[in-house]
Amino acid sequence: MSDSGHRTILVSGGAGFIGSAFVMQMLATNTNLRIINVDALTYAGNLENLQAIENDPRHVFIHAEIQNTELMHSLCEQYAVEGIINIAAESHVDRSIQNANPFIETNIQGTVSLLTVARDMKLKKFVQVSTDEVYGSLDQHSTELFTESTPLAPNSPYSSSKASADMFVRAFHHTHGVPAVITRCSNNYGPRQFPEKLIPLMILNAMESKSLPVYGDGLNVRDWIHVNDHCDAIHRAYEYGIPGEVYNIGSENECNNLHIVRTILSILGKSEDLIQFVKDRPGHDKRYAIDASKAKKELGWKPRITFELGLRETIEWYQDHPEWCEHVLSGEYRDYYSQQYHRER
Ligand code: NAD
Ligand code: DAU
Repeated sequence: MSDSGHRTILVSGGAGFIGSAFVMQMLATNTNLRIINVDALTYAGNLENLQAIENDPRHVFIHAEIQNTELMHSLCEQYAVEGIINIAAESHVDRSIQNANPFIETNIQGTVSLLTVARDMKLKKFVQVSTDEVYGSLDQHSTELFTESTPLAPNSPYSSSKASADMFVRAFHHTHGVPAVITRCSNNYGPRQFPEKLIPLMILNAMESKSLPVYGDGLNVRDWIHVNDHCDAIHRAYEYGIPGEVYNIGSENECNNLHIVRTILSILGKSEDLIQFVKDRPGHDKRYAIDASKAKKELGWKPRITFELGLRETIEWYQDHPEWCEHVLSGEYRDYYSQQYHRER
């Protein structure tokens, strides 16, 4: 407990898609909590995501990189931080294919930096928000699921950087006794997701009647979960997760990309003629599917938001927030977007 009478945790990446949802959800459901939100505000971080809590004194925003170990250490001291939840990352697979370096810096070096602080300050808990992509790819035609004991077999530079970070979390727990847990979640969707990812990109393109670029044959499968359900699992992993353990998070909602795209077009009343098959992503993983029974049993967690309702509400959110869309589609992102958009067909 800090002098302010609050429990204080440091959350990294809290201006991004999942991080902002997490910070807002935590403050709304825990009156006695203060959050030190450290975010570098890369192209994916946006203070508009945090507008709802901009006047909440329990939210302290720090514009910084997690690799700055000295600063992270002094923030933990200054605010009597009890634990860290590491959400910050470079998160987009296509960008990692273009240039892996920022993924090494943030996802690996940044995680080691925060682990070092957790070790030196003997923090009470460390949650590493990882991904199901560290397990590699499942057969499209099998019913096999990723469990926590599935061997790591990352295929992209992004997932390799996340798997490396997971190995460092394991090592800091084993060697230094850092009370760390890892969560590995499937694909998230929901409000405020940066429109480089499948669902928001397709929603925004469909809204403007632009073509919808589907990679390869469109039959790659992902296991979709609403971001708020993921955030609830991260919270429970922080409170109840056993140090040294890994928890898979997923919603039993496997869907191929073409089905997602057709559903979005149908909800928006747009023609399927907008679908454009483009060159496949190099090394494109075929299928992800999660067995989340351990998190359900040990963390008392379960997903609550159905995909049908969640997707409709997500589409409405993008329709209701044209300024947000305009903002994130400006600047550096526009260049990246147009490169992607003009991928060789
Ligand atoms: P995002 O790209 O929307 O947000 C990442 C945030 O991290 C941004 O606010 C960015 O500014 C910040 N950041 C980047 N580098 C930083 C640095 N060096 N220091 C401090 N802040 C930095 O990502 P997201 O989709 O919200 O994903 C968040 C986390 O969840 C990632 O670790 C990702 O691997 C994991 N994850 C994502 C999904 C998904 O479907 N999006 C699924 C499972 C796990
Ligand atoms: O599984 C969890 C992971 O999900 C997270 O760890 C990552 O941070 C997150 O980016 C996501 O990775 P994916 O590569 O699965 O997500 P993305 O939205 O980029 O792509 C989803 C699927 O849609 C994938 O099969 C590629 C395809 N796709 C994507 C885009 C952007 C297209 O067909 N067209 C597109 O334009």
